[in-house]
Amino acid sequence: MSPASKPKFKNPRAKFNYEGRPVSVTGVGSYVPAKVLTNHDLEKMVETSDEWITSRTGIKERRIAAAGEFTSDLATKAAQRAIKMAGITADKIDLIIVATITPDLPFPSTACLVQQKLGARRCAAFDLEAACSGFIYGLEIGQQFIMSRTYDTVLVIGAEKLSTIVDWQDRNTCVLFGDGAGAVILQNRPNSHGLLTAVMGADGSKADLLSMPAGGSRCPATAASVAARLHYLRMDGKETFKNAVQAMLTAAQEALRRCEIDIAQIKCVIPHQANRRIIDAVGERLGVGSEQLFVNLDRYGNTSAASVAIALDEAVSSGKIHRGDLILLVVFGAGLTWGAAVIEW
Ligand SMILES: CC(C)(COP(=O)(O)OP(=O)(O)OC[C@H]1O[C@@H](n2cnc3c(N)ncnc32)[C@H](O)[C@@H]1OP(=O)(O)O)[C@@H](O)C(=O)NCCC(=O)NCCS
Repeated sequence: MSPASKPKFKNPRAKFNYEGRPVSVTGVGSYVPAKVLTNHDLEKMVETSDEWITSRTGIKERRIAAAGEFTSDLATKAAQRAIKMAGITADKIDLIIVATITPDLPFPSTACLVQQKLGARRCAAFDLEAACSGFIYGLEIGQQFIMSRTYDTVLVIGAEKLSTIVDWQDRNTCVLFGDGAGAVILQNRPNSHGLLTAVMGADGSKADLLSMPAGGSRCPATAASVAARLHYLRMDGKETFKNAVQAMLTAAQEALRRCEIDIAQIKCVIPHQANRRIIDAVGERLGVGSEQLFVNLDRYGNTSAASVAIALDEAVSSGKIHRGDLILLVVFGAGLTWGAAVIEW
């Protein structure tokens, strides 16, 4: 991109004395399991139809991890691709953050398991739980460590094996979700603004809209909790939908406002891939053109924390994003949580 055609914007971090330490994505990668579960397959499992799922959500198929393939395995494969693109080795990583609601185990963290699988011996590692918003939360947290000169190289992963917490007898939810992982390497790249801003929000008063009732300290696993199917995710679809549209819109507008840019300056908008109707409602209100919007939920459904990370990788590898382009990520999830990030690629 020539200097003359470079989009103009304000860097909101400039006031924090960040000089010399802007944080860029220097590598991105994703991985989805091989097994495809189509809407027609679901017709044989619950009372539903391809027509209903497609018209209400835009989803045609999703990926399902194998029995012996865990969240840490998906995360590791995505991370290896991001590491390769960044041109580094695993021992260069200072910190691993894994955003997930489906860790391999309640503890230790999936990030520690990924560290071991990558052979990234000298780094810190922890999990982050912000549901579908986890990847943007992870980007913001990761960049803080680099901007503050605490670390040089941070690996942020969104990874989920949602097929293990989906109730395959509940047609209201089982058609929506899938498994997968996406990862980025964050580093300082001179002469680039990188991650310009990240908006993060939460509203715990609406925690009940989307949750997994049992398995935590409130309701530990018992024969009764298992029999009542409380170890699966539950959702009020209609209320979640309404909140998603409003929160994503507000977060995206705030991110654009901070950077003093107009939506027309954004090359690629990558929204959380939950429902095509949510994406279109947000896109329409923001004034996003169809050529700006990146959508892959028809192939993967909602992969929660992995969703925008996988989409980012596919947008980059398909040539939709080039160095210097401005991109907007916008997410929403259980918590409730939401977020938006503007990145100069
Ligand atoms: C779940 C969702 C697709 C349902 O769409 P909707 O427009 O609210 O649903 P509708 O009101 O048109 O339809 C509901 C009816 O369809 C039925 N239905 C639900 N799932 C169905 C399915 N898979 N197949 C067929 N029928 C289904 C319901 O039982 C209900 O029937 P009833 O009216 O006889 O009670 C939608 O609410 C949604 O996407 N919400 C947000 C979910 C989300 O993204 N969550 C994650 C956020 S990170």
